[in-house]
Order: sequence, then structure tokens, then C-alpha cells
Amino acid sequence: MKKRCGAVLLLALLCPLFHAADLTGTWRMDLARRGGVTLQTYFVLSQHGTRLDGKVVINNCVDLPLRKAHVEGSDGVFSNDWNTDYRLHPEGDHLRVTLTYGGHDSEEATAVRAPEAEAHPPAVIPLPAIDPVPANGLARTPPMGWNSWNHFGDKVDDQTVRETADAMVSSGMAAAGYVFVNIDDCWEGSRDAQGNIVPNTKFPDMKALADYVHQRGLKLGIYSSPGPRTCGGYLGSYGHEEQDAKTYVAWGIDYLKYDWCSAGRVYTDSSLQAGYQKMGRALARSGRPIVFSLCEYGMGDVWKWGPQVGANLWRTTGDIQDNWKSMSEIGFNQGRLAPYAAPGHWNDPDMLEIGNGGMSATEYRTHFSLWCLLAAPLMAGNDLRTMTAETREILVNREVIAIDQDVLGRQGERLASRDGIEIWAKPLHDGSRAIGVFNRNETEKAVQLTWKEIGLATKPTALRDLWQHCDLAPAADAYSAPVPAHGVLLLRVKPQPKG
Ligand code: GLA
Repeated sequence: MKKRCGAVLLLALLCPLFHAADLTGTWRMDLARRGGVTLQTYFVLSQHGTRLDGKVVINNCVDLPLRKAHVEGSDGVFSNDWNTDYRLHPEGDHLRVTLTYGGHDSEEATAVRAPEAEAHPPAVIPLPAIDPVPANGLARTPPMGWNSWNHFGDKVDDQTVRETADAMVSSGMAAAGYVFVNIDDCWEGSRDAQGNIVPNTKFPDMKALADYVHQRGLKLGIYSSPGPRTCGGYLGSYGHEEQDAKTYVAWGIDYLKYDWCSAGRVYTDSSLQAGYQKMGRALARSGRPIVFSLCEYGMGDVWKWGPQVGANLWRTTGDIQDNWKSMSEIGFNQGRLAPYAAPGHWNDPDMLEIGNGGMSATEYRTHFSLWCLLAAPLMAGNDLRTMTAETREILVNREVIAIDQDVLGRQGERLASRDGIEIWAKPLHDGSRAIGVFNRNETEKAVQLTWKEIGLATKPTALRDLWQHCDLAPAADAYSAPVPAHGVLLLRVKPQPKG
């Protein structure tokens, strides 16, 4: 009896140790993605009984701490801050991994043991000293076009881009000023023996694709990262900046969106400017006019140094989502950045969601009006091939586009905010002002806009409603109108001549 108790005690003591051997270590999980690409995620784990510590290195791009991590039976269970849940089930020498994205979509994969060093970022390549890149003279008005990310994500392929170019012309968008057809993340494949970037199998011939787009009078954009991996986990330009710029020239690329992503694993935040300058310089030396679009979510007050790295635009926020909360929180928070917008250099509150289905037509008109008042880049993010007439009418409203594209190049600012009503104004080159009266409330509001509060001493000589496409008769002191919930009244106001 005594002997058996001892054995039980010994087993009980050893059990945690046996557990510890289960999950502790570095594990590599390969995920197959469209275009013949395989992405690697690493789990770096340390198990102590039922306690589990460590991190997950997602797509080799970002290190995220484990959240709610524990051991259930022999399974490691945890979440990350990107709304993914993991269950790691040991099977022989590997783990069967179940990933659940956003609480519903699931995927199964296998993880195998890997040397710890494999999960480390590559060694830091020293960055050049800060030395301003000359302005490229492009984007005198905010760039207009389309980008694949918001609607297509990793599904973007050659055919979609060609059909989008066709639709941009046939829908009248090209005639209204949209010109860039931009491929976002998920086009990258591998590097050849010389280190040249090669697209994945969804893009069989990038030069031919650029030719196709150019033949329609449009321009082709592409995407990369200063880090080794993009945000989606595909290859970035790290250590290949000049070489990639040359490849873009050989293909006929006209626009580069350059997304920080895994650069954060290699460099510190204080390297932002130097990291972007490296590619800015490579583009400047490439001999081809290429619009340079920074995407680093507004870190390090990018608006203060963007022009010095040769940038034409810079994201000021995290990613937009196709809903009122996300769009309105981003849009109405941009006024403070107005001093940093000017011809050639624009604040970018992210791409348009118009037509993607998550907002009403009224809300999309607010989205478009606000972005135009902000002199924001207008990158449609919907499926141009199948858009409804209502979506098209929003995107090609030339009177509203003229506010965005006004050659004075000033970004609008908030004049007043009261009871959920916001009044924004943007000065225009002919002395007129674009005025947006926004209703952020859940119900319609009757709004009175006085000439005084928009800085006019007397009633304007002309007043035009840019969504109704009609001239209004200005009264002596004010203009009054109902504004629907989440809606906008967008006016062009011509003041009396001075003197
Ligand atoms: C980041 C960017 C997005 C998009 C994705 C692609 O999240 O902010 O606009 O480019 O990466 O992976």
C-alpha cells in the first residue's frame, strides 16, 4: 500500500513535467494560400503544467502575445489580439491546429517543431542617414483610382484587375478622373536566384497586365513593405529596395503603396523615416514617375516628415472597415491634420468603402463628401464590375469630386460641432467654399446654417447643393434644411466679392 501511494505520488509529481515536454518549444505552421503561396506562422511556447506562455508570430509579420492561454487536457488553447482563436492538439511529433477567425470561420493546419531561430526576424540592415528625397512633382491633386484590398483581399488576380480597368472606363469613372488601378497585398510569390521579386501564380505576367491597363489610358499600382513580409505575410522589399524599384520600372508600375507591417519586427519605430526614405530614394532614382504612398497607420506623426522621404500621401489611421462607426470615427477625426495637406502631399484617411454593402447610400454619400472635404485620395474599394447605379452615381458625382480635386489643394476643417451636427469647410481656388453639414445623430435634424458661422459677413452670391445638383436661393442670414440621420448637406458657397 505504502509502495503504491509512493508510485501515485511520483506520477503526480512527474505529470506536469510530461505536460511541459508537450508544447514547450518553437512550432512552425504552414498555411497554403491562393496563388501557390505558403505562409508561415510560429508558435513560441513555454508550458508550465496547465499554464501556457509565449507568443504567436503571425505570417512572419507580427509578434502577438497569447491571450487567455491555458492547457486543456493536452491541448494548448489561446487567442490573439487579431480576433483569432487557436487550439493546438498534440498528435505524435506534431500539432493539429484549429484556427477560428472572428469566432466563426475555421481552418485546420499542422504545426511541426522548428529551430527557435527560424521564428526570429532577420538581422537588421543599417538604414541610411536622414537626407531629404527631392519631391517627384506627382499628385498635384489627391490621387484617384481603385484598390483591390477592401473588396477582394487575397482573392485579387490578373483577370480581376483587367476587368476592373475595363469597368473603370465603361462606368464613366475614368472620365470622372479615376486613373489608378492598384493591386494591394497578396500578389507576391517568391524571389528568383538573382533576388528579383516574382509574382505568385495569380499574376502570370505583370508587364502584360501593366500594358493592358496603360492601353486603356489608366495607370497600374502595386504594394510592398519595407519589412521582410507584408501585412498578409507575403514577401516584402526588405534588403531588396533598389532591386524592387527597378522591377517596378521594368513592369511599368506607376504607384507604390508601401506598408510598414513586419518592418516593426526588424526596425524600431524611430527608424520609420529612414525606412521609408530608403524606398523613396530608390523610386526617385528609378527614372520612372511613381506615386509613393506610405501606409504606417499614422505612426510617428508621418505628416510631419512624409514629404522629406519623397511621399505623395500617407495613411493617417488604422484600417477602415465598411461600417458607419469605423468610417465616421476616422473621417471626423482628420481636421487637425489640415495644415499638412498640400499639392503633392496628402493625408490619407484610408480607401473608400462605398458600394461594399456595410453602409446605407446616405452613409456612403457622407463618406464621399467627407473624404472630398478632406482632400483625401479617392481610391474606390468596391467591385467596379458589378456596382449598382446608386454606387456609381456617388463615385462619379463630378461636383463633389471637384471639391476634392480643387487645385488650391487645401484640406477642409471643422468649423463647428453642436448636438451631433458638424459643419466643415474647405476653401476653393475661386474664392468659394465647400461646406459640409453632417448629421451624426440617429434621427433627422432640422439644421440652420448661418452665414456668420461659416465666416461670411453677408449672404453669399451663389449657393449650390452638390448632391441635388441645384442652385438654392440664399436668404439674408441663414440657410435651413433637414439633414437625414448619418446624412450630409454638401454646399458650394460663393461669397460676395470683397470691398
Ligand atoms: C494593412 C493595410 C491595408 C492593406 C493590408 C494588406 O492592413 O493597412 O490597407 O494593405 O495591410 O495586407
